[in-house]
Amino acid sequence: MKQRIDAILADIENLKCKKEQEIEEARVRLLGKKGEITRLFEEFRNVAPEMKKEFGKSLNLLKNAAAAKIEELRNSAEESNEASGASFDLTKPGDSYPLGSRHPVSIVREEIVSIFRKLGYDVAEGPEIEDDWHVFEALNFPPEHPAREMQDTFFISASDNPVLLRTHTSSVQVRAMETMPLPIRIICPGRVFRNEAISARAHCIFHQVEGLYIDENVTFADMKQAILLFAREMFGAETQIRMRPSYFPFTEPSAEVDVSCNICHGKGCNICKGTGWLEILGCGMVDPNVLEASGIDSKKYSGFAFGMGVERIAMLKWQVKDLRNYFENDLRFLKEFETAY
Ligand code: DAH
Repeated sequence: MKQRIDAILADIENLKCKKEQEIEEARVRLLGKKGEITRLFEEFRNVAPEMKKEFGKSLNLLKNAAAAKIEELRNSAEESNEASGASFDLTKPGDSYPLGSRHPVSIVREEIVSIFRKLGYDVAEGPEIEDDWHVFEALNFPPEHPAREMQDTFFISASDNPVLLRTHTSSVQVRAMETMPLPIRIICPGRVFRNEAISARAHCIFHQVEGLYIDENVTFADMKQAILLFAREMFGAETQIRMRPSYFPFTEPSAEVDVSCNICHGKGCNICKGTGWLEILGCGMVDPNVLEASGIDSKKYSGFAFGMGVERIAMLKWQVKDLRNYFENDLRFLKEFETAY
């Protein structure tokens, strides 16, 4: 019996069949009802009791080795069939792909855009690689303004009109004023770049939405109303806004806008640092110098502009404290927004 077991074992090791039919024949020959191994199990009954332990063990090993070899041959036959497309089973169910979800930054950007679309704003876009004229010069930045320094801006080439990565989407206003017919009412979502060390509160790449409205007789009160409507759509109908005087080279007068804290409703909490207010955007009346630089008659036309950070609005909306979450694309974080829209 020992010799027969060894002979079958050697036979199994040398099995090389590739076709499914041959593999099935080998299985029947070894493990089928009348197969060689099955027959050995029948003969096992007649083995002397003192030999049963040893033979029993080798027989079981033999049976397992045969089953494993058949399985291995079947798998490799299947793989090579798939690779060659030989027997592609069209009736097999397809592999299902997990469905992705929208990125929280996209969700908020689209929400901002859709609110302003309802107010009659069109979407305008401009290049991320810009020149000094559209990012700084036409927006009334004085030559020695710190934003023009290497430590704040990524420059690509130096010349009279250096090429750089735009540091804000205000550059799109300039392109719009240069090319679009008046009146202009646009919203400009886009990616911006600043030479900042990455931390929980700052990143070198982020997103902004810029707004611009130019027509005859546009007033500060119009701007305040547009921003109030936006704030209530975004943060809830009870939201209050307040404006603080500020400075931007391209607007005069300029303001920073805060919304009443949507967590504590003005009572003071750790999100609003006890003040009851959260800063959301910068805005102002377009400086006459900026209108004139783009060829618009500042005696006839006036306008307002505003700009906000998309990640900042998203952080306030969902109380995410670390900005880096928005860039690391950790699926566990992104999945939390699956049902946000
Ligand atoms: N461009 C400004 C920034 O990046 C944001 C901004 C402030 C835009 C005031 C405006 C504005 O249009 O009027 O910080």
